[in-house]
Amino acid sequence: MHAPLTAFLVALFLSVPSVASCFALLEVDKEATFVSGPEGYARIRVGADRALQAPRDPRCPAVSRVRISSYRDSRFVGDAEAALPCESWTKTARGFVYRDSSGAVAGIRTVRFGPDGLQIEAAAPGHTPVTGPIGFAHVRFSVDDQQFFVRFHTFSRNGAAAVVSPRASRASAAAEAAFWDTMLGDVADSDGALTALARATSRNPYDGRAHFLTGMMRLYRFERMEPDQRRVSLAGKREILASTSAMERALPLRLGGLADDSRVPGFAGAAIYKKGVAFGESRTTERGRRMMEDAAEVDALFNGFIPFGFAPIAAPTSPDYATILHLLDDVFPTLFEECFMQPEICFNEGLAPHNLEGTFVLFGDLYTKAGRVEDAVSAYETAVGFGESSGWKPEFLERARQLVQEAPARAALYQDDDPANDPAFTDLGGAGNCAYCHNR
Ligand code: HEC
Repeated sequence: MHAPLTAFLVALFLSVPSVASCFALLEVDKEATFVSGPEGYARIRVGADRALQAPRDPRCPAVSRVRISSYRDSRFVGDAEAALPCESWTKTARGFVYRDSSGAVAGIRTVRFGPDGLQIEAAAPGHTPVTGPIGFAHVRFSVDDQQFFVRFHTFSRNGAAAVVSPRASRASAAAEAAFWDTMLGDVADSDGALTALARATSRNPYDGRAHFLTGMMRLYRFERMEPDQRRVSLAGKREILASTSAMERALPLRLGGLADDSRVPGFAGAAIYKKGVAFGESRTTERGRRMMEDAAEVDALFNGFIPFGFAPIAAPTSPDYATILHLLDDVFPTLFEECFMQPEICFNEGLAPHNLEGTFVLFGDLYTKAGRVEDAVSAYETAVGFGESSGWKPEFLERARQLVQEAPARAALYQDDDPANDPAFTDLGGAGNCAYCHNR
């Protein structure tokens, strides 16, 4: 394995907390207003979400923390996470309130926290305003190990002066919650999420976020159905077609913040590429390929993973596979340092609570197909190393251990003259690859 990668791994082991913290996403009646400039402020509000029903007491000696950030130009930006002094919390009739009119900590003036909702107000000076255009805003609030995320993707204004995310409808809140219940592995069945998403898009055909998540959910289902994406079943064709039609609906809806989230055209390109391959349509495949490459060009840190979608399909000697190896060998080593400032993207701090483990399994698969057995074994071992202490699903950990053993034999099958005997990527046709990063 390359020297910079080894150094990076050592630094990683030292910096990543051993057990991935769990989070709950708050969706019900969420709304936010962000105003920029020297008088800038943030007002964030969530209603009586199911996840708020047993709030932890934030008064002393508990530790509560807040971070208000946004995804701008493909990076998480904003103030660092701040610990709120516990003596500024008091009990109210139905919860707790934090007050500091001076905003001494990160400009946070008030926080109301209880079963009826969560409200956070912050203002400059002290608060660094969220400034549009952004892909989304991400708010993190925790009391000890009880952690909440609130994400805002849908905007009525998204410019330099102000970013406004109007109150989400109940239908889109339910759809978003159902999508993440499935991705996080809390709910095994994905039909419920599709139904909730369909309800959101039929109620509001301009709900770009719900169309996009429909496309992603269909892609997830496709990957679970098809061990070999070069030879797709009828059911798989139906699924990937449904994915691309949802993505095609999402792409032109520029109001939703979709236009300023560079990940969206990359994900859409991956679905379009796979649909082109499944149906043998070379122009569709080419369009998807171009979207995937453009996305990686715009942003290598997150979207650099998008062209890995070629890997289960492309031959190890093909130009598409050369793109993958170029990203792995030449591009990623230049980004390692930035990773430490972007733990939601690179580590396990965002919506992919086992991102590192899933990433190293994927790297292992990529090296295996390239015939680089030593690199593959080392990547799988790294996944095992993290997974042993992070609360990763035992069956995924077991699979990673098995891949360490099987890497040489699997590499040989890719290298022989018979592409039909190529082993499946992890875990296509099974749990799906999404689950390795996104399941709790
Ligand atoms: C190698 C690990 C990995 C794999 C595999 C993976 N993801 Fe992700 N995904 C991530 C990371 C990291 C993020 C960024 C986390 C964040 O935004 O907090 C992310 C972000 C996302 C988002 C956007 C989050 C948002 O709401 O802003 C969606 C949707 C998503 N992934 C769905 C999927 C689906 C569906 C699959 C499978 C087809 C998949 N992911 C495969 C790691 C992965």
